[in-house]
Amino acid sequence: MRGTMSSMCLVLFFFGMASAQITVYYQRTFQHTQVTSTVSTTAASASYTGAAAYDPTILEAPAIPDPLPAMQFDLDLLNGDTSGISIPQTGAFVGFSIEMSVTNQLLGKNSSYIQVPFLNLMANLKKRGGRVNVRVGGNTQETAVLVDSLDGGRMIHKDVENVSNPTETPPLDYTTDLFYIMRNISDLVNVYWYLGIPFYNTSNFQLAIADQGQTILGDYLLGLQAGNEPDLYQRHGHRSEGYAPSDYVSEVGELIYAMSNDANIKTLNNLIGPSVATGDWTPEMVWDTGFVDTYSDNLAYLSVEHYPSDNCAAQYGAEYGDPRDPQAMFPRYLNHTAGQALVKPYLNSTSYAQSKGKPLVMFETNTASCGGFPGVSDSFGAALWGLDYAMQLAYSNFSGALMHVGGQGVYYNPFTPPPTNQSTFRQWTIGPIYYSALVMAEALGSSESGSQITDLNANNGSIYTPAYAIYESGNPVRVALFNYITDPSGASNYTASIYAGDGVQQVQVKYLSADSVSQKGSFKWAGQTFGDHFASDGRLMGDEEVHTILCDGSCQVNVPAPGFALVFLGGDEVVDVETQTFPTTVQTRTANTATVAGGVLETSNGHHLAMMGGYGSTSKGSAKKNGAERWKVEPGRLGVVVLLGIFMGTML
Ligand SMILES: *[C@@H]1O[C@H](CO)[C@@H](O)[C@H](O)[C@H]1NC(C)=O
Ligand SMILES: *[C@@H]1O[C@H](CO)[C@@H](O)[C@H](O)[C@H]1NC(C)=O
Ligand SMILES: *[C@@H]1O[C@H](CO)[C@@H](O)[C@H](O)[C@H]1NC(C)=O
Ligand SMILES: *[C@@H]1O[C@H](CO)[C@@H](O)[C@H](O)[C@H]1NC(C)=O
Ligand SMILES: *[C@@H]1O[C@H](CO)[C@@H](O)[C@H](O)[C@H]1NC(C)=O
Ligand SMILES: *[C@@H]1O[C@H](CO)[C@@H](O)[C@H](O)[C@H]1NC(C)=O
Ligand SMILES: *[C@@H]1O[C@H](CO)[C@@H](O)[C@H](O)[C@H]1NC(C)=O
Ligand SMILES: *[C@@H]1O[C@H](CO)[C@@H](O)[C@H](O)[C@H]1NC(C)=O
Ligand SMILES: *[C@@H]1O[C@H](CO)[C@@H](O)[C@H](O)[C@H]1NC(C)=O
Ligand SMILES: *[C@@H]1O[C@H](CO)[C@@H](O)[C@H](O)[C@H]1NC(C)=O
Repeated sequence: MRGTMSSMCLVLFFFGMASAQITVYYQRTFQHTQVTSTVSTTAASASYTGAAAYDPTILEAPAIPDPLPAMQFDLDLLNGDTSGISIPQTGAFVGFSIEMSVTNQLLGKNSSYIQVPFLNLMANLKKRGGRVNVRVGGNTQETAVLVDSLDGGRMIHKDVENVSNPTETPPLDYTTDLFYIMRNISDLVNVYWYLGIPFYNTSNFQLAIADQGQTILGDYLLGLQAGNEPDLYQRHGHRSEGYAPSDYVSEVGELIYAMSNDANIKTLNNLIGPSVATGDWTPEMVWDTGFVDTYSDNLAYLSVEHYPSDNCAAQYGAEYGDPRDPQAMFPRYLNHTAGQALVKPYLNSTSYAQSKGKPLVMFETNTASCGGFPGVSDSFGAALWGLDYAMQLAYSNFSGALMHVGGQGVYYNPFTPPPTNQSTFRQWTIGPIYYSALVMAEALGSSESGSQITDLNANNGSIYTPAYAIYESGNPVRVALFNYITDPSGASNYTASIYAGDGVQQVQVKYLSADSVSQKGSFKWAGQTFGDHFASDGRLMGDEEVHTILCDGSCQVNVPAPGFALVFLGGDEVVDVETQTFPTTVQTRTANTATVAGGVLETSNGHHLAMMGGYGSTSKGSAKKNGAERWKVEPGRLGVVVLLGIFMGTML
């Protein structure tokens, strides 16, 4: 009852947003616990025993390269050379891959308890890139079983007693409410979804996910994965010795046969494969079986998955490989070769996919499998790495990349909700990879015809100062400039002299910045941040900073060490982006038009303890574009209202 009520109110709530006049409850007495920033020292990290997602390890930034690359170089965007430019891309290029077993933490407990921070995070991306693509799956999809109901209105339940395989992923029971929460999220923030059909037991395909997923998600379901990392099945004990690409391909045939014999399944043309981890098989080994031609009518996407390294030994023991030292690994993420080397094994496949008219998606990736590395995966360096990697994937004609999100036990999460028993006083932790996704969405934009990107091989190919140009309708519109060096002296800040035509009299620049590649948390995008650990409700905080640079022939853009600059070449487009981002004042008690029931407010991360009584409302004039109107919330009131208000603000 209450759930339905809340949902209805949530709908009202969103209709109401058009006029931004909504009443919300706020708590009267709740004291927001101040979470001090995670100050870290080597000693603290050595003794740290908490969850990986909040590990305080801070590494040493790599030494300043010697010799230093040139600190001034030219980029001529009008030399007519756009050869090698990518296929058209969208601002939804970077999406997320959410491990199915953590959907209850990330999306919400059930369809009446959506996590508002998650909505905010998606809304930020939608605003920049038009929509967001999210995969729900991973190893836990492989044994997922649809059940009618679970205790306490839950939508998923982990059978923790029956853990198997190196990533210790438990068998999973779920209800159709998982699809309802996804559908609810789609309706609110334009998220499109990928799902996967359990593939461990091919003599007994569990097709409910295809049937119910299609029925409930409709057009928001992009596709269904047929097998997850089949090249690792044998190694992990899910297939017998000798399991080969041709066996996998036969099994996909069995799946299609089973689906075509299931009257509940209406769509047979949205499968995704082969999703090889590029561990024990190359994609070519699958292409060479004739996989794509054989199932051309059934395949909507081709896919691969890959992580550049793994931290399995540290996580699961020496039998899973040699331990790797995060400090020694760090420099490997901090130059242009990193993304290029990751993409190189797939260049033949992106070309092959184009020849077959199929999009190729990097379906699951991140800094390192088995949780990533402390100090690497959660550092500012990872934000630069993720952005360069994403741009390299786009330039190389992939059609999307999904950054993996695990639970509290991993270092690489783009976003992490607080541990459930701390959710009443802590907020989310936004990791570097989310910043990569945010900037990528803005770099590629939401133009109808898409954008195209090219690697400029800048600065005579220096690996420390890569740059890309982004084109719309054949014209350069944005330039992306990286500086991987950490040098507090300022001597490694460089200047790019961009020539984009005599008509370009000024450009605008947004920076992605931090003091060091090793910094954790409080990174800034255009002056705004999601703060440190446990500090975010999913919305950027602070005033947006956009720099205007006057050009005299060429435009001189400074890029700090470390840092990233996105240069907007055209007129007022930055301003357009800005108008979509505005704060909301939640405390004025005027113009109430809709009431949101408490149940809805509880979606905001369990701030429900102190939510009885009192009203707040969004202000009539909440849609200020100049960033002047800031939160006016007393500390004691910082809770649900803030989150909801924030969400409304970002949605408008
Ligand atoms: C959602 O979860 C809450 C709390 O666990 C529960 O009270 C509620 O009944 C659930 N809603 C549905 C529709 O199952
Ligand atoms: C989990 O393991 C226990 C003990 O081995 C077994 O009895 C039970 O059936 C298993 N549950 C599932 C869902 O496989
Ligand atoms: C959310 O899902 C439920 C189904 O559980 C549905 O009844 C409700 O209308 C949805 N709410 C919104 C806001 O879409
Ligand atoms: C696969 O499903 C069949 C049919 O339900 C069952 O007999 C068999 O035990 C299952 N195999 C595994 C490995 O679970
Ligand atoms: C590229 O892929 C195709 C299809 O698998 C294969 O036939 C060809 O040999 C590959 N080329 C290279 C250079 O790997
Ligand atoms: C640059 O990155 C590549 C790929 O990870 C790595 O092999 C190389 O050692 C790095 N170069 C330096 C100078 O750190
Ligand atoms: C991407 O595709 C375009 C169009 O087919 C092609 O011209 C370009 O060379 C490709 N880029 C790469 C890196 O393969
Ligand atoms: C939360 O649960 C963990 C694990 O059970 C426990 O170690 C921790 O002390 C709890 N924290 C709080 C604030 O209750
Ligand atoms: C560019 O790099 C090449 C080799 O990497 C080097 O031989 C050449 O001198 C460099 N040119 C400039 C202008 O630095
Ligand atoms: C280098 O960039 C940083 C960050 O923008 C800035 O604070 C510093 O003043 C710059 N130093 C020089 C020498 O330009």
